Amino acid sequence: MHISLSLVTSLLPLLSLAENAPASTSAYMDAATGIQFQKFSASGMSIGLALPDGGNSPDLIAQMTGDPNTKWAGASLGPAMVGSVLIMAWPNEGTVQTSLRQATTFASPPVYAGATLTPIAKGTFVTETGWQATMLCKGCLANATLAFAQGDMSANMGYVSATAAPITPADVASPVAKHDVFGKYVSAVGAARSAMFATWAGMAA
Ligand code: HEM
Ligand SMILES: *[C@@H]1O[C@H](CO)[C@@H](O)[C@H](O)[C@H]1NC(C)=O
Repeated sequence: MHISLSLVTSLLPLLSLAENAPASTSAYMDAATGIQFQKFSASGMSIGLALPDGGNSPDLIAQMTGDPNTKWAGASLGPAMVGSVLIMAWPNEGTVQTSLRQATTFASPPVYAGATLTPIAKGTFVTETGWQATMLCKGCLANATLAFAQGDMSANMGYVSATAAPITPADVASPVAKHDVFGKYVSAVGAARSAMFATWAGMAA
């Protein structure tokens, strides 16, 4: 097979772009709720977001999953643990706890009171193959210094997972030990917007 040198040379920049592209999200429809997310999957966990149309709302729906070895998982609504609203979830007594945190240092972060989480029950469960939590966050994007901007098309976010359960798992404010896995990714939040958001948010109670 003959491939011209000029063709190879012209393709090289594209190849290196693809290699350097950060981990990203893809469209995913959750079977339990019908909600369509932009979802990022890492080993042992995933985090998906759904947003309202228009890019002018502080609210979002988040879905977090973990495999049986994942004793808690988390995601940051900005690029770093410190200075971002943090979403956490972990299984407890047959259901899944969800918690918002804000870190001012690299230590177990306290609860963030600037937004509220309401579970979407039919998207929240524990099975033999893992756990899933689906939640409406009212106000997660209210403070622009702690999250991506409401009108952004893509957002730099972080994710973590841990093999040690929170210290007091029944308490949503439980302290935790440090995560085992961490990383960053880009969420296609523009593609996460849907006119169905209000209907989906209505499942939260
Ligand atoms: C005792 C508890 C915790 C400690 C000591 C801790 C410490 C750290 C440290 C040192 C890093 C930088 C990367 C590294 O050197 O490993 C990091 C990254 C990260 N942490 Fe935590 N963490 C804790 C809890 C949490 C929780 C509860 C979340 C919830 C979402 C979280 C989310 C993140 C994220 C998203 C990153 C990656 C982005 C970044 O590097 O800032 N962490 N953490
Ligand atoms: C937004 O968060 C920053 C950092 O925690 C804080 O200093 C500021 O007061 C917050 N703004 C509002 C309007 O709550």
